[in-house]
Amino acid sequence: MPDLKINGLPAHVESGASVLEAAEMVFVEIPTLCHLKGMKPDTSCMLCVVKDTASGQLIPACSARAVDGMEIDTNCAEVQSARRDILNLLLSEHVGDCEAPCTRICPAHLDIPLMLREIVRGNMESAAWIARRDLTLPATLGYICPAPCETGCRRGQVDKAITIRDLHRSMAENHEGSVLGFNDTEIRGLTPKVVAVIGSGAAGLACAWRLRLLGYGCTVFDEKPQAGGALREESVLPMDVLDAEVESLREAGIAFELGHAVSLHTVAEKYNGVVFAGTEFAGAHFADAFYAEEHKLAVKAVANGKAAAVALDRFLKGEKPNVAKPFDSKIGKLRESEVQELVKNCAAVEQTGKSAPHVGQTFQSAQSEAGKCLHCDCRKPVGCKLRKYAEQYGADQREFPADERGHVQLIGHSEAVVFEPGKCIKCGLCVKITKRAGEALGLAFVGRGFNTQVQVPFGESLQNGLREAAKDCVEACPTGALAFRNEEER
Ligand code: SF4
Ligand code: SF4
Ligand code: SF4
Ligand code: FES
Repeated sequence: MPDLKINGLPAHVESGASVLEAAEMVFVEIPTLCHLKGMKPDTSCMLCVVKDTASGQLIPACSARAVDGMEIDTNCAEVQSARRDILNLLLSEHVGDCEAPCTRICPAHLDIPLMLREIVRGNMESAAWIARRDLTLPATLGYICPAPCETGCRRGQVDKAITIRDLHRSMAENHEGSVLGFNDTEIRGLTPKVVAVIGSGAAGLACAWRLRLLGYGCTVFDEKPQAGGALREESVLPMDVLDAEVESLREAGIAFELGHAVSLHTVAEKYNGVVFAGTEFAGAHFADAFYAEEHKLAVKAVANGKAAAVALDRFLKGEKPNVAKPFDSKIGKLRESEVQELVKNCAAVEQTGKSAPHVGQTFQSAQSEAGKCLHCDCRKPVGCKLRKYAEQYGADQREFPADERGHVQLIGHSEAVVFEPGKCIKCGLCVKITKRAGEALGLAFVGRGFNTQVQVPFGESLQNGLREAAKDCVEACPTGALAFRNEEER
């Protein structure tokens, strides 16, 4: 029964226990990729390295036995740097986009592929909601945004970029009530705190909306009698479209106090937090105020408003105002053959919904346009452990550049599970799981050295390889390499 210390904490474990198990006992977390409880360790990833202070060696915690008197450091600079190098090496040969290029380019970060899949599935209200949630003013922007997302759309390499702007506009205009009905599920953790936003241009409205979604009671102030700020000067924008969107925000619980100047002292006294949304902030300086800059590009103003809301929220919760951007693996430009591989993805979304009769023709054409999306985003953007640790350890995908990047390849287009070899870190968990499940075919490592790949033996389909263990394999796979084709993870 060894006694050892993990980061100075005493741990008493059963003989034969691993250092990882000892760390778990004292609630010290060690990152793992190739480890699965109850399975013999393979030590293929080495991310679990820790320092044995007596020998000065770095050892893999998942396979090293806990020994009496051992002193383990799980977090020193040497361990951190080794883990970062391991992640950088894994990422140097990783072929995957965590985010779709269109979403990356959209300043307001609209989850475009998800919205398009919802359209294809016939879930128009849900598509409208995604547009509303991310853009605040999806119909208004549908008239005035220069659509930078479309310039980055990969469908342009096949024929023409998807008409993303028209689609979010049409979803929003045909589902003005999309704010309603989602309030209960999306406005989480309502807090008793109240916040004020001074200025009702695109940045101010987006800031108020994001704060509302974060659970705050929110009031927007403006000297002008109508909300909208500089948006009211847009000649191509029908004002009833803007009015309807402002009304939606009001229906979602945002209060508006318009048509009179506001006393900053009253606001400071009555509200827990204040955001100034405008272009000039002279005279608006007082302690703990936040700023959302309006911008001549309305979608950029929306992005500024959202960022100010997140900063205020963190401040009110006593957290650091700056949030690290999530790690984003990037493939870059696709080769012609890879574009064709992604074209097969178009048909990968099941049409589950029914056509909405009141939208009629608009619905049909929206569905066929959205059906051209290549779904460039990853299927496991939240559950992927590689992404999570890359962010945690500040990994840099370009630290060890590969001579030639691997290929984008998708296996199982018409099946429930999709396998992307470029995202596989060869941890072997799926191979072991199919064996444990007694799969007739299962998965196996085929080839040697650098060319080793996970495959179903005899060139059989994924479906035949994963008759029993598909769910367990998808859940255990530490990356987006194995994922269910039609399950959304957000
Ligand atoms: S597998 Fe993980 S790291 Fe790779 S693209 Fe998907 S989410 Fe990003
Ligand atoms: S094809 Fe779809 S996911 Fe890919 S960039 Fe275009 S809209 Fe985005
Ligand atoms: S596909 Fe299999 S070997 Fe590859 S990362 Fe996923 S679980 Fe590991
Ligand atoms: S080597 Fe320990 S988790 Fe991979």
